[in-house]
Order: sequence, then structure tokens, then C-alpha cells
Amino acid sequence: MKKIILACLLLAGTVLSAQQINSPDGNLQLTFSLSAKGEPTYALTYKKKPVIKTSKLGIDTKDVAPMLDGFTVDKTETSKFDETWTPVWGEEKTIRNNYNELLVTLSQKAQKGRYIRIRFRLFNDGLGFRYEFPEQANLGYFIIKEEHTQFALAGNHKAFWLPGDYDTQEYSTVTSKLSEVRAKMKDAVTPNASQETFSPTGLQTPLMMKSEDGLYINIHEAALVDYSCMSLNLDDKNMILESWLTPDAVGNKGYMQSPFQSPWRTVIVSDKAGDILMSRLVYNLNEPTQYKDVSWIKPVKYVGVWWEMITGKSTWAFNDLTSVKLGETDYSKTKPNGKHAANTAHVKEYIDFAAENGLDAVLVEGWNQGWEDWFGKSKDFVFDFVTPYPDFDVKELHRYAESKGVKMIMHHETSGSVRNYERWMDKAYQFMADNGYNAVKSGYVGDIIPRGEYHYGQWMVNHYLYAIKKAAGYKIMVNAHEAIRPTGLARTYPNLIGNEAARGTEYESFGGNNPDHTTILPFTRLTGGPMDYTPGIFQTQINAYNPDNNSFVHTTLVKQLALYVTMYSPLQMAADLPETYRKHMDAFQFIKDVAVDWDQSWVLEAEPGDYITIARKAKGKNEWFIGAITDENAREATLTFEFLPKGKTYTATIYADGTDASYDKNPQSYAIKTVKVTSKTKLKQKLATSGGCAVSIK
Ligand code: NOJ
Ligand code: CA
Repeated sequence: MKKIILACLLLAGTVLSAQQINSPDGNLQLTFSLSAKGEPTYALTYKKKPVIKTSKLGIDTKDVAPMLDGFTVDKTETSKFDETWTPVWGEEKTIRNNYNELLVTLSQKAQKGRYIRIRFRLFNDGLGFRYEFPEQANLGYFIIKEEHTQFALAGNHKAFWLPGDYDTQEYSTVTSKLSEVRAKMKDAVTPNASQETFSPTGLQTPLMMKSEDGLYINIHEAALVDYSCMSLNLDDKNMILESWLTPDAVGNKGYMQSPFQSPWRTVIVSDKAGDILMSRLVYNLNEPTQYKDVSWIKPVKYVGVWWEMITGKSTWAFNDLTSVKLGETDYSKTKPNGKHAANTAHVKEYIDFAAENGLDAVLVEGWNQGWEDWFGKSKDFVFDFVTPYPDFDVKELHRYAESKGVKMIMHHETSGSVRNYERWMDKAYQFMADNGYNAVKSGYVGDIIPRGEYHYGQWMVNHYLYAIKKAAGYKIMVNAHEAIRPTGLARTYPNLIGNEAARGTEYESFGGNNPDHTTILPFTRLTGGPMDYTPGIFQTQINAYNPDNNSFVHTTLVKQLALYVTMYSPLQMAADLPETYRKHMDAFQFIKDVAVDWDQSWVLEAEPGDYITIARKAKGKNEWFIGAITDENAREATLTFEFLPKGKTYTATIYADGTDASYDKNPQSYAIKTVKVTSKTKLKQKLATSGGCAVSIK
């Protein structure tokens, strides 16, 4: 009988040394085992339903023997962890980090006992695991050919996916069954300034899925440090996702030196959609911050000399030359094009607007020389980050902003010439420190120099972190655009207050974002960290600014307000032009009031791709804000107020879509009213097509 059982187990590909751990609440169960060939495998269940079926783990290497099979288990250790930590900024003032851990030590006899470890952490909201390569005589340096981490799914789930790409995440999310990915891939790959797809079934993380039996599953990674970004390749016959790392210029996928560990691979799972939004698993898998002084890191609400260039009303460039040379072109002898927005007088208008309305800062783009031919030319020496155009008076603007109590946000567009940025970085940050700038928006538009490197390869991953750490030395906060999507590193480096790494509001001026876009991003992109989405566009017809641009914003005006609550970020832009806000000061009041840092957050209702309603309490204040948004379908949101202290009555100001509002025909119709609310109040609120509702409570 025993022999028969053993034979069955071997046939099924599993062997005896299975190890199990449960999540602290017992809902999740992880099983580790070795296959008959000595391949490490794992499986995950949630409330006894399969989430990840038995899936292989391993790394294929180039110059040393692969770490795929022939393993035996030397040792397994289990432990528990439970602590509560305080983020510098965030959606809540404290975060609980509670998991059960299994650490497996595995060795390969055929490789003279070379050993690795796989560490699993099982939380109530999901799983994290990583590979560890301890220092040993038989393992020093090695090159990764490919990581073969599998996620064998239990079905043909509905997925919210972006095409796998080594250079960009600026795609619209496709919602489809996994089996439809292949057929839909061609249309999903829309043009971008830099892009490199790799497979007809390649997908990006964070990948959000929903199973037919109602499980919400999110796959991503945490603590991506000195390793290349993981995409997923789908085997659409067997519904197995497998890791696919970003190569470097010569095709290698990672350069390792022991002791070392991979980033965490993460699976967040729940039967409630709202739990995915509330999960802090990715942060919990990152290291606590080592910064001793964090007093200089502060959430920011800002305006910027920006949208007028994005819409084509103004230009970043000073003149209309098509060729300029850094340090050679004498701009004082060239003819200005009359549309250069970053000029001293105009920037002062933005500073005035920020000061009048209590906004913290002003971003200015196009202030420095080189924008005439910055794009698409693969120029190495494109910007120096310290030389302003002749009409931008750095010292005078520093004085003026300081006199008004407004901070300035620097802009460093690298144009992908990253080697050049590193040449200038110290000088550029010192220039900021000297001129009163404590935050920088950096950008990586276009193909990377060194040529052949990708935005998401190990070399660039190291660059982004180098910039964040170096900026910290100057007490500078960083908001990087076109950089790697976040993996919770802001816990360790809280001066990383913003990132783009997805299709932002700018695309509303480049043809539009889908009405469901922002009902998906919090389930995908935002699981790794905040996004500088830049909401707040009130003039939804772009041709009001530029007659040649017929794009329109695919939301109502009120949905733009609600985004300040639903799209969490400690860095929030009021992205439209002051002249437009001045016409709608009643609606702008919400942007003035809304907090950017929170004591607590509650998901009142949510379904990826359809709707999200979130309430949050402002940090250290008795003020609450609610944002509700919907996709292309009008709907009725249910606003409950159970988060309010019991037995007290508060005044709520409700910013609602007008009864005749719709995102495509009447986006600017809105109505504002005040009502009394208590913790027992329940309100039904109509949201227009791609509409919303924003509430402030005092
Ligand atoms: C793309 C960024 O996302 C955008 O915000 C910026 O204005 C341009 N690059 C120019 O740097
Ligand atoms: Ca961008």
C-alpha cells in the first residue's frame, strides 16, 4: 500500500518533504515541496480554494550550473512576526506587519552541496517569497539567464493587464479573460516614446485578476533592488504565468554576487475587492527606513507650469531652432518663440496663485536650456540641469517664492540620457539646494543612453535608487516619471514621494484615457506605491487651450475632484491652469481643502474596472474626505459614514455631478450642497457616466 501511495505521489510530481504554513488568521495556506526531480515548488490556497496550484521555482544561470532541479531539503525553519510601524506619510498612520514565515534551505549534491534558501512570508492578505544566495565557496558571482518562478493559476481568470514591455507602462489597461490576451495583444500595444515588447502573451505587474469563484488576486514584486524588473509570460494553454526578467544591452538578465537575495514575489489575495486596496503587503516586505531625520520629507500639493505645454498651448523650448548644442548655443542671441511658458513673470503668476490658495509648491518645466531638440535624437549631452534660459531668473524666483511662503519644484528631464544625468547629478542637486528647491520631478522620456539598456533592466533599477539616495543627501524629495514602477521602496526611502510609471493625466491631452482607467489603477499600479497622476483638470476640452488639439478629458469635472481621494498620493498636483480654476473657485475649494496625508482610510465599495468609493481621515485633524468614481456607466454610489465618531453631527459639503452631467457631452455640470451627517447617515449619490462625487466633512 505504502509503495502505491509513494508511486502516486511521484507520478503527480510531488514528494514527501512537503512543508506547510498558515497565515495568522488561518485563511491562507502555503505548501512547499520538492518534485521528483528535486525542483522546488509551492502552492497557495485561500479559504481552501486554490489560488496558485503547485508551481515550480528556480533560476537558470549562464556561467554556473543552473539552480532549477537536483535539490534536496537540508533544513526548514518556521517563525512568526508581528509589529506595527509608522510610515513617514501614507494612507494610515500605522501599519501592521504580521506574518508566519517558512525558510527552506536547499542544496544540490551534484554541485558540491551548493545551497540556496527560499523564504516564504504568509500574511493575512497574501504571500511574499524570495530567493536567497548565501555566501559560500561554491557560489560567488553568477549571471542570470532567466528566473523561472511560476504562478500556476486555478482558472482562466478575468485579468486587468498591460502588455509586457521592457521600457514603458504607459498603456491603457485591457480587461479580458487570460485566454484572450494573445488575440488582444496587437491592439493593446499603442505607440510610445520608448517601448520594447517581448512576447505575444507577456504581461506587466502588478497584474490584477478575478477568478470565476470571486477571488481577487494581484501578482507583483516588492523591494526591487539591484535586480531587473519582473514581467510575466502567460502559458495560455495551461494558465501558468512565469517570471520574465528584463535583459541588459547584451541580453543578460542579472549580475549577482553572493550574499544576495532576489526581490520578493508577491501574491495578494482576498474575496473582497476592497482588501486589495487596503493591503500593505508590498510595503511590509520592504526594509524599515534607515533615515534618521525625516523631518524634511513632507507631503506636497502643487501647481505647475506644465499642463499648458502638455496641451500644446505653450512650449518647453525657448525658440524655434531645430538644433542646439549644450554650452555652445548662445540663447541670448536667438529669437524667442513667444510661447515659452517658464519665464519669470509667468512663473510669478503661478506662485501668486499657489500663495493665494494655500498650495505648497510650484513645479516649473522648460526652465533649462536644451529643449529645442531634446526628443528622439539620442543626444548624449542634452541637458546640464543647471543652466536656465535667459528669461528664467532663478535667483529672483527663489526670492519671490520664499517671500510668499511657496516652495519651488525642480524639473530634471534626462531625455533617457542617464549617463549624462549621472555626470551632472551632484551639481544639479547642489544647484537646487542653493536656490531653494527641495523636490525634483525627474523624467526618462525616450530610449536609454547607455544605448541598448532598458528602462526596467538592472542597470536602470540601480540608477533610480542611486538618484533617490543621493537626493536624500541634499534633503531632496523625488518624483520620477517614466521610471520603474514602484515596489514599496518608499518605506525604506520615504523621499521617493511620487512616481509616474503608468498612463497619467497627460494622456487626456494625447487622445484620452479610458473612463475605467482610474477604477483600475488603485488595484494595479498603486499596490507598489503612489502615483503622480496629476488630477484636477476642469477645462475638459483641450481645444480651449490649443485649437489644434481635439482631445478631451474622459471624465466629468467632479470625477477629477474625487481622484484626490481615490488615487492616494502624498504628492498631489492641481494640474489645470490658474485662469481656469479662477472661473470655478467653488469647485476648486475641494482641491484647496483635501488632505494629502492620512490617519486612516476605509474602502466603502469597490470593484476593479467599475467603481471605487473611499473615505479617509486627514492626518492629525478632525476632517474626513470621500471620493467616489465610476467607469463609463452612470451609477448610484452608496455613501456611508460609519467612520465618523458616534453621536456627533458634522457638516458635509458634497460636490456632485449635475443631473445632466456626462463625461462626453456635459462634463462641467456640477452641483455643490451641504448636509448634516452622523455616523448613521447613508446617502445615495448619482454618478454620471465617468463621473464621481467628492465630499469634505468638518
Ligand atoms: C513626460 C512626463 O510624464 C511629463 O509630465 C513631462 O512634462 C514630460 N515628460 C517632459 O519632461
Ligand atoms: Ca510620462
